[in-house]
Formats: sequence, structure tokens, C-alpha cells
Amino acid sequence: MEFTFDDIPVSGHDGESLVVALMRAGHLHLRDAPADGGARGAFCCMGLCQECVVRINGTMVESCRYTVEQGMAVTSLRQKP
Ligand code: FES
Repeated sequence: MEFTFDDIPVSGHDGESLVVALMRAGHLHLRDAPADGGARGAFCCMGLCQECVVRINGTMVESCRYTVEQGMAVTSLRQKP
């Protein structure tokens, strides 16, 4: 499965969770903390912490609870890429 993260090409396996595909590609910084702008990324990997939220085609999703799809456009919630 080929998709993009902040316009960077990423590959994932069929059935793989998005957060794992991103981690394998070295993308650990998925969003910024609202209070101090600190780097945030996956923590619980089971849908509890919301630290892994990204945007897919304009919709915010928990990347640990989303399976990779061919051609999807994923964007981080980082202030600066
Ligand atoms: S890593 Fe905690 S909700 Fe996804």
C-alpha cells in the first residue's frame, strides 16, 4: 500500500495499522501539544490517548485505529512539518 504523509511517500503492508507504518518509516512526530508545542506521537497504540491523531483526506483519525489504504493522503497536525 502506497500513501503519503505530509506529501512524503510511505509504504504500508495490507492490514497494517497506519501508526505502525508511519513508525517503520521513521515518522514519530505526528502532532504538537497545544499548550507548549512539544512533539507528540503514538503512546498507547490502542485508541485511548489520542496522541496519534492525524488527518486523512480532511478527517481527523486515530492512526493506531486506522488501517493503511492505497493512495490515502495523511497529514500531521504539526505546526511546522
Ligand atoms: S496511540 Fe493512543 S490513541 Fe493512538
